Amino acid sequence: MTRSVPGSGSEPVAGGSGSVPPVLRPEPVVVVGMDAVGRPLSPSAVAALAGARLVVGAARHLAAVPVPSGVDTVVLGPLAPALDRLAAAHAAGQPAVVLASGDPGFFGVVRRLRAAGLPVRVLPAVSSVAAAFARAGLDWDGAVVVTAHGRELGPALNACRALPAVAVLTAPGAGAAEIGAGLTGWARCLVVAEHLGTPAERVTWTTPEQAVTRAWADPHVLLSLAAPAGAADGDPGAQPAVPTGAADRDGAVGPGDAGRSGDAGPVGDGGLAGDGAPAGDGGPAGVGPVRADNQPAAAPVGGWALPESAYRHRDSMITKAEVRALAVARLRPRLGRLVWDVGAGSGSVGIECALLGAAVIAVERDPAAPVAENAARHGVAVRVVTGDAPAVLGGLPDPDAVFVGGGGPTC
Ligand SMILES: C[S@@+](CC[C@H](N)C(=O)[O-])C[C@H]1O[C@@H](n2cnc3c(N)ncnc32)[C@H](O)[C@@H]1O
Repeated sequence: MTRSVPGSGSEPVAGGSGSVPPVLRPEPVVVVGMDAVGRPLSPSAVAALAGARLVVGAARHLAAVPVPSGVDTVVLGPLAPALDRLAAAHAAGQPAVVLASGDPGFFGVVRRLRAAGLPVRVLPAVSSVAAAFARAGLDWDGAVVVTAHGRELGPALNACRALPAVAVLTAPGAGAAEIGAGLTGWARCLVVAEHLGTPAERVTWTTPEQAVTRAWADPHVLLSLAAPAGAADGDPGAQPAVPTGAADRDGAVGPGDAGRSGDAGPVGDGGLAGDGAPAGDGGPAGVGPVRADNQPAAAPVGGWALPESAYRHRDSMITKAEVRALAVARLRPRLGRLVWDVGAGSGSVGIECALLGAAVIAVERDPAAPVAENAARHGVAVRVVTGDAPAVLGGLPDPDAVFVGGGGPTC
């Protein structure tokens, strides 16, 4: 008995006894990833294209591959009409190819094809996220990848505010300029990687403030990286250090120079500190200390509603564990949400929200309050804004939840 191997074409599938007539099994749609480090198509992808009767892809992808003359093409745009054409080709047993960026199974078209009931054979290539980290010269195990494609920017922005290494898949109107605007005030370095794997590739190290002022080409990936301790954190005068060398502050590294060889970023061992090391310990220039896992802990290792002894505080100015447990539960902290801790004191409420994945702004009038010290002790990012509420609240990004210390309400 012979069986059709997925992806091997329209082979006859014979019954065991020979009494069943051969059946043509429709071919899966071949989804070809376009490499984000510029490698040519694989022999399998070239063969799939050579045999295709229908090729679907973005204009830039169609222009970059050899589509045999006379083959039907659909230029993306909206996906729905293309899905109809693919379904018709599949039903008719016609070989079809979809061109997509990077790894099509990673924030890509594979999900939509499968949802439409189409069987797929995926030929992945290097993802734009892997390529962006490679071009920046950084390791990225533990980095979080979020998308702003076709959805609200807020959750992606809050992930960048909360975590030290985040890659954002962008879309027109939800890219480096908009994310830079939202990260102003947070200590972050940004890497903007445009047109990866093409002759127009450009990799730029910049700051949130400078990113706002630039026009960025589509497509681009944005890396948001913790800046060295002491940069920004509510201090508009402090800027994250941007590595020098191949790319200076807000410097672009373009094709034909160092950018294509991946040395646009920091020198040294090139890695985010993977050991949860304290500030200044092992991280490359321009990137601050990074928790070993870079993950918001759904259940923090040490738990939450911690005893008061887990925080430095003065004169018992700390929200007690029992009250904190209720408050944190009501604030619903998680990755993608922004919490204000107003009148933060020791910062315990905001810190426990950050331990659960939220981005946090702690507002405190006393510059000597130990919020930053406690946040560092618990390994979380909390932006401290020093000043009197409500006066200082006006310029802050809108929160999803607010805790008002000193017995005020939560909402
Ligand atoms: C729908 S996602 C697809 C991601 C893709 N599956 C991958 O692995 O790269 C589209 C986004 O990926 C990023 N992207 C894809 N190709 C890119 C490229 N050549 N250069 C820079 N960014 C790219 C952009 O952020 C773009 O908006």
